Amino acid sequence: MVNFILNQKCISTTLPKGLLLLDFIRYHQRLTGTKIGCREGDCGACTVLVGEIKNGELKYRSATSCLMAIGNARGKHIVTVEGTNVAGLNFIQQCFTDEGASQCGFCTPGFMVSLAGFALSNTAATPQAAIDAVNGNICRCTGYKSIERATVKIAQKLAENKQQDAIAFAVENNILPTYFTGIKERLLQLVDPVNSSTAPTQSLLQFLGGGTDLYVQQHDTMLDSEIDFLIDNSALNGIVKIDNRCYLGATVTVTDILESPVFQQYFPSLQAHIKLVSSTPIRNMATIAGNLVNASPIGDFTIFFLALNAQLLLSDGHNAREIPLQQFYKGYKHLAKKPEEFIEQIYFELPSASTKFNFEKVCKRTYLDIASVNTAISLQIENDCITEAHLSAGGVGPTPAYLMKSVTYLKGKSINENTINEVIAIAQTEISPISDTRGTAAYKRLLLGQLIKAHFLMFSGDKNLQLAH
Ligand SMILES: Cc1cc2nc3c(=O)[nH]c(=O)nc-3n(C[C@H](O)[C@H](O)[C@H](O)COP(=O)(O)OP(=O)(O)OC[C@H]3O[C@@H](n4cnc5c(N)ncnc54)[C@H](O)[C@@H]3O)c2cc1C
Ligand code: FES
Ligand code: FES
Repeated sequence: MVNFILNQKCISTTLPKGLLLLDFIRYHQRLTGTKIGCREGDCGACTVLVGEIKNGELKYRSATSCLMAIGNARGKHIVTVEGTNVAGLNFIQQCFTDEGASQCGFCTPGFMVSLAGFALSNTAATPQAAIDAVNGNICRCTGYKSIERATVKIAQKLAENKQQDAIAFAVENNILPTYFTGIKERLLQLVDPVNSSTAPTQSLLQFLGGGTDLYVQQHDTMLDSEIDFLIDNSALNGIVKIDNRCYLGATVTVTDILESPVFQQYFPSLQAHIKLVSSTPIRNMATIAGNLVNASPIGDFTIFFLALNAQLLLSDGHNAREIPLQQFYKGYKHLAKKPEEFIEQIYFELPSASTKFNFEKVCKRTYLDIASVNTAISLQIENDCITEAHLSAGGVGPTPAYLMKSVTYLKGKSINENTINEVIAIAQTEISPISDTRGTAAYKRLLLGQLIKAHFLMFSGDKNLQLAH
């Protein structure tokens, strides 16, 4: 049984938990405002809001319902475009109408829902933040300028809110209907005890995080799969700093790390790095553990955490063991993990004042695209000498690569042109890129060299470094 609130309605369903929320909404509830476009998380036509009580606070985030299992809706408030309606047009709808920001209207519900999520997000209401909130929504016919004008108007309205609770402000200003004010109480009363043990409920299950890889890759089989809903499991939540270590639960999402005070303190460029990864609704759903286990050679967080020298705590629910992420990849999509083992925790040593960290990614398109090549580096530098180094690279072989020979070379060196040119030459001996739609093998070799240079230029700020081409 899965219990949740859909707009104003209480849902208790015994349908398979792997059923897509999109199909439940449209075919079982006949709420057809939520559209079907790509069914792969790319277009945003199916966007819904997911409201959840975390640490006593009701938080809303956007999600693509075409990649979300109803099992992951458990205990939450799901809002479709119909659930944002008031008598007449709401403020967001009015702005779109005034600016001519809708033509055929197919994408419009997705934009409305993403902007309703922005209104509830407690994010500083700048025009750029409002535009970022719709970065997962594609419109094929209106032209983005009118959508941008409407979005900026909405941000200006929200900026008038100086200290009121976001829900109260949205209701008072005709942005959202009044029933939102009672949702927190209703969610607290929703009888749907969540699992708090770390043991999988059955053996040999398909573990599910956010579903943003699984529902793209195995869409047709997920409905009938035996799924272990990790997101349900309160013991797998959260980001904690203990002494100098940072621990991430298996269900921590990309947005969780973006909003984490620990990550904000230790990774000042995190926002810029994460902007290069997928879109807002996908980041709201995608877990770090899912990225690691998906084992794509270009997984951005895999590359990021390899350079942090992260360790994994694997568990089958009874026995646990630790393994360095560096040793997790044995071959293409072949992992040092038994089928019944899941990632319970990821941890790493936090950077010190003498640590420099950087992430670089090149794609065919800057945003909402997967990498041709990506790389991350972490260097500890004391008295002008590299005392500790980690360097990773994606898109240059069958697995995400930890560049061991390059790392060994860097230790004990000072940063100068010779060191940089040398490490680029060594890195070339450790990779085996292939030609594919993301670029030729030669291009990927060139890219990795350029991105390693970019790491060092980022650290030195010296644009005049003489580096081999
Ligand atoms: C539109 C779109 C854009 C994307 N853009 C990017 C991008 O720019 N960069 C990028 O790196 N990725 C991107 N992705 C891929 C995807 O979002 C990420 O890989 C994401 O981190 C996967 O996490 P998830 O929780 O959704 O995984 P899921 O789909 O739930 O699971 C993925 C795999 O991990 C397993 N799994 C999940 N959690 C655990 C666990 N704790 N223990 C053991 N196994 C587990 C599942 O069984 C499955 O095999 C994109 C995806 C989409 C749809
Ligand atoms: S249908 Fe395109 S993102 Fe869901
Ligand atoms: S209004 Fe037609 S796709 Fe956006």
